Formats: sequence, C-alpha cells, structure tokens
Amino acid sequence: MTNLLVNIDHVATLRNARRELMPDPVHAAMACESAGADGVVFHLRQDRRHITDRDVRLLKEVVHGRLDFELSTNPEIIAFCCEICPDVATLVPENRQEVTTEGGLNVRDNISRLSTVVAELKSAGIEQVSLFVDPELYQIEAAIETGANTIELHTGDFANAVGHDAQIFEVKKLVQSAELAHELGLNVHAGHGFNLTNYPIFRDTVPHVKEVSIGFAIIARSVFVGLHVAVQEMLDVIKHSD
Ligand code: PXP
Repeated sequence: MTNLLVNIDHVATLRNARRELMPDPVHAAMACESAGADGVVFHLRQDRRHITDRDVRLLKEVVHGRLDFELSTNPEIIAFCCEICPDVATLVPENRQEVTTEGGLNVRDNISRLSTVVAELKSAGIEQVSLFVDPELYQIEAAIETGANTIELHTGDFANAVGHDAQIFEVKKLVQSAELAHELGLNVHAGHGFNLTNYPIFRDTVPHVKEVSIGFAIIARSVFVGLHVAVQEMLDVIKHSD
C-alpha cells in the first residue's frame, strides 16, 4: 500500500506572508494525520522562508506517523536533521532563487559528497536516507553508490506533461526508474506536482512506490473544501487500487 505523506510547507508560507502565528503548519500536520495521512513532509530551507526550526521541533513531537525531513547538504541543516532524527531524511537540491525544488540531485557527479552526508545521517540513527532524483537510470545507479537506501523519483516532468503522448513518455521513464531502483534494493518514493487528475495514471502504471509526498495540490484545494476533505480526497485516489 502506498503511503501518503502531506507536505505542509505551503501552510508555513501563508503564515509567514503576514508574519503571523497562523495558520500553524504544526496544526496542519495534526489535521492531515487525523484525516488519515500516513505522515508529514517538510523542507527546512537555509533561508527559513517557510518552515522554521520551531516548527521542526514541534513536528517531531506531534507527528505520530512518518516524518520526512527534506534538506540540502548544508552542514548546519544536516546537523539539525541528525538531532531531530526523522523517519526519513530526503536530500534535495536547493537554490535560493527557485520558487520550488526544480529537479533532482545530480547524484552521478556528486557521489563523494553525497556518500559522506548519507553516512552522517545514517549514523545519527535515521533509518531511511533518500535522494530526490530525476527518473534517469544513471542517477539511480549512482544513488546505490552513495549508500542511500531510498530514492524519491521527481515526478515534476510527468505532472507538467501536456497531452496523452507526452504523459506516456514521462510515465515510462518513471516505470523504468522504479523497476531499476527496486531491483537494486532501493525503496521507491515519488513526488512533485501530483494532483487528483494526474495521480491515477501514475498509480496505475508505476510499480513499487511505497510513499508519495504531496503538498501544493492538497493545500490549494483545502482553501475550498478544508484540509480534512482535501487529504481524504487524495487518499481515496492513492489507495484506490491497493
Ligand atoms: N518532493 C519534493 C522533494 C519536493 O521538493 C516537493 C515540493 O516541496 C514535493 C515532493 C511536493 O511537491 P508538490 O508540492 O508539488 O506536491
């Protein structure tokens, strides 16, 4: 069964837009779990533009399900992640100018640095250390060399594909990547750009996906239907074929 972890960064973005105390991403995390989500994801950025250190400490206390800490290879953030010891640490590229994470890590060209970081995170007791990668076979082969035990497939190109042929082209890359990762013994996670419309084709085509991370579509929809319903609608689609 594929787990749904809800990314609550956008709740923090809204809070910070008015330098207010609400909406609180910690409350959002609790609401997501009470609606049935299997856990929560957040990205602690170096510039703290949405999630803050205070949020992370409280999330660690209140989240009962799985907690996925997305981070760059910045030493200060790595040390904080080791202290928090989430269930999953997902390494992502980070660029100050970007609106959201724009693509996967270039694992092949950074094996040495990533191996050091993966070892540090594992030695802090973090059970799953994941690399966010584009669906390219050479990146998945490189992921194994770093000692990571999990990959998160970047699904942004699939989500942005316009038209049936383009969608099929992108989903095939995800299928091949998921198959290779599974053969190599890696856990397969996926995320970026999923919504109620595009998820079914991914669900019905891409094998071995243990966990998906979904943020924007759920939080945006919650403006109209509330967070509880928005999470449940996505869960219905995710668990549909299980
Ligand atoms: N996975 C990663 C690594 C991400 O950076 C993001 C975006 O914060 C997501 C998943 C979720 O993407 P979305 O908000 O488009 O659902």
